[in-house]
Amino acid sequence: PPCAFHLFILYIGALGARVICDNIPGLVNKQRQLCQRHPDLMQSVGDGAQEWIRECQHQFRYHRWNCSTLHRHHAVFGRVVQRSSREAAFVYAISSAGVVYAVTQACSQGELRSCNCDPHKRGQGRDERGNFDWGGCSDHVDYGIKFAKAFIDARERTVKDAHALMNLHNNRCGRMAVKHFVKLECKCHGVSGSCELRTCWSAMSDFRRTGDFLRKKYNAAIEVTLNQDGTGFAVPSNALRRPTKNDLVYVESSPDYCVMDKAVGSLGTAGRVCNKSSHGPDGCEVMCCGRGYDTTRIRRVTQCECKFRWCCAVECKNCEEFVDIHSCKAPKHADWQDKT
Ligand SMILES: *[C@@H]1O[C@H](CO)[C@@H](O)[C@H](O)[C@H]1NC(C)=O
Ligand SMILES: *[C@@H]1O[C@H](CO)[C@@H](O)[C@H](O)[C@H]1NC(C)=O
Repeated sequence: PPCAFHLFILYIGALGARVICDNIPGLVNKQRQLCQRHPDLMQSVGDGAQEWIRECQHQFRYHRWNCSTLHRHHAVFGRVVQRSSREAAFVYAISSAGVVYAVTQACSQGELRSCNCDPHKRGQGRDERGNFDWGGCSDHVDYGIKFAKAFIDARERTVKDAHALMNLHNNRCGRMAVKHFVKLECKCHGVSGSCELRTCWSAMSDFRRTGDFLRKKYNAAIEVTLNQDGTGFAVPSNALRRPTKNDLVYVESSPDYCVMDKAVGSLGTAGRVCNKSSHGPDGCEVMCCGRGYDTTRIRRVTQCECKFRWCCAVECKNCEEFVDIHSCKAPKHADWQDKT
């Protein structure tokens, strides 16, 4: 099945506490083995799916493609995204990042049998400010990366084509994005906070940073083809840039996502809310693909004229206002008949 890996994550997310590796459709052997060996890790992978799907939807909330096809309901009935599009590149990257994040987080919480806080962050460390003692729990992000690589990449290693090579490349980008935002956090000790002594641990940043980062990579993604011997990517000789390890790559151009087409993971934009005064992707012209929009006036109650009252309450009035909401018209199915 297309994008079996994502269907699979959604599937375990839905199963709750029971992960039954034999019943999960679309796993390759290596994945099934890993699943059987690490059922608790699988559970964190499934739980973590909520977070990266939410992040994907946040990043694309103002776009025609808004990542909603990743809902289980849709995914089961159609494609998640066009197999090798720019959007697929983003989905592979952010889901790989999401697996790294979820597994690493679960390791740190001591919930798992196979991993824990980073065992290498012990004793003395050093950064630009000098020496410190490792303490507390350092996120073992290298473990998360190792697991995500073994598990997610296993599928792509069973075939050798442009699509598989693209996925491997973008998966890696996603994993590295999480590592990119690992930071050192420290606590000061010593005479009245003099910070003569420091205890530090390394910690992942908020997942939003990874999301923002990968979103920029999506904007700058590079279209490639497979090179002659099938071992790497080629770009047209007039291309502006060659991809590096840190660029997202794709091989197929995207559909316009204007109309519903489940075969390419497009829900269409009928009914989507748009912004009349924006010329960006959320503007009605772009969002509605020139089909026009409907306007509804809604009543909204907001808190207003808030006053601080001694002590210690804020009192507000309820104000009512009317706002216009614009939403895209559905395509007229008769259009094509009229033209003939
Ligand atoms: C995304 O778009 C679909 C289809 O147009 C719509 O049904 C859905 O509510 C949107 N999702 C979000 C999170 O905006
Ligand atoms: C609509 O777009 C305009 C121009 O980009 C922006 O200033 C405004 O905040 C947007 N309105 C909403 C409701 O997002």
